[in-house]
Amino acid sequence: MKKIVALVVMVVFLAVGVAAFGSPACPAGDLKVTKAEGTAKKAPVNYNHAKHSAVAPDCKSCHHTWKGDGAPEKCSECHTAKKDGKKLAIKAALHKTCKDCHKDMKKAGKKTGPTSCKGCHVK
Ligand code: HEC
Ligand code: HEC
Ligand code: HEC
Ligand code: HEC
Repeated sequence: MKKIVALVVMVVFLAVGVAAFGSPACPAGDLKVTKAEGTAKKAPVNYNHAKHSAVAPDCKSCHHTWKGDGAPEKCSECHTAKKDGKKLAIKAALHKTCKDCHKDMKKAGKKTGPTSCKGCHVK
C-alpha cells in the first residue's frame, strides 16, 4: 500500500514538473561546468548554449539521455568521478563531447572553440 501511495505521489509530481517546465529554453549566458565529485584541479569551464545553437542545434547530441520534457539531467548525475562500466567518467565524457568537436572542426579549417587547456579552463 505504501508503495502504491508513493508511486501515485511520484506520478503527480512528475506530471506537475513536466507541465511547469514544458520543453525548456536553453539557458542564456555562460554556464559554469564544474565537476560534481572528486577534486577539481582545473578551473571551471564556461559553456554558452546560444553560441553553440548554430553548430549543435540538436539538444540530444549532448543531453543524449534526455526525453525532451523538463530540464535535462546534469551530465554529472550519471557521469561521476570514476568510469563505471560503459559510462565514462565526467572528465572524459565532457572532453569527448566538447574537445573532440573543436579539434575536428579546427582540423577541417573551420572557425571553432578552444582546443588548448587554458582556452577552456579559464582562470
Ligand atoms: C554541446 C553540448 C550541449 C548542447 C548541444 C546543449 N546543451 Fe544544454 N547543457 C550542456 C552542458 C555541458 C550543461 C551543463 C550542466 C550539466 O549537464 O552538467 C548543460 C545544461 C543545460 C541545462 C541546465 C542548466 C542548469 O543550470 O542546470 C538546460 C535546461 C539545458 N542545458 C538545455 C538545453 C537545451 C534545451 C538544448 C537544445 C536547444 C541544449 N541544452 C543543448 C551541453 C549542451
Ligand atoms: C541518465 C544518465 C546519463 C546522463 C544524464 C548523461 N549520460 Fe552520457 N552516458 C550515459 C551512459 C549509460 C553511457 C554509456 C552507454 C551509452 O553510450 O549510452 C553514456 C555515454 C556517454 C558518452 C560516450 C558515447 C560514446 O560514443 O562512446 C559521452 C561522450 C557522454 N555520455 C557524454 C554525456 C554528456 C556530455 C552529458 C550531459 C550533457 C551526458 N553524457 C549525460 C549516461 C548518461
Ligand atoms: C558541434 C561542435 C561543438 C561542440 C559539441 C562544442 N562546441 Fe564549443 N564551439 C564550437 C564552435 C563552432 C565555436 C565557435 C562559436 C563562435 O565563435 O561563434 C565554439 C566556441 C566555444 C567557446 C568559445 C566561446 C566564446 O566566448 O568565444 C567555448 C569556451 C566552448 N566552445 C566550449 C565548449 C564546451 C565546454 C563544450 C561542451 C559542453 C563545447 N564547446 C561543445 C563548436 C562546438
Ligand atoms: C573544449 C573545452 C576543453 C578543453 C580544450 C580542455 N578541457 Fe578539460 N574539461 C572541460 C570540461 C567541460 C570539463 C568538465 C568540467 C570540469 O570538471 O571542470 C573538463 C574537466 C577536466 C578535468 C577534470 C576536472 C578537474 O578539474 O580535475 C581535468 C583534469 C581537465 N579537464 C584537464 C584538461 C587538460 C590538461 C586539458 C588540455 C590538454 C583540457 N582539460 C582541455 C573542457 C575542456
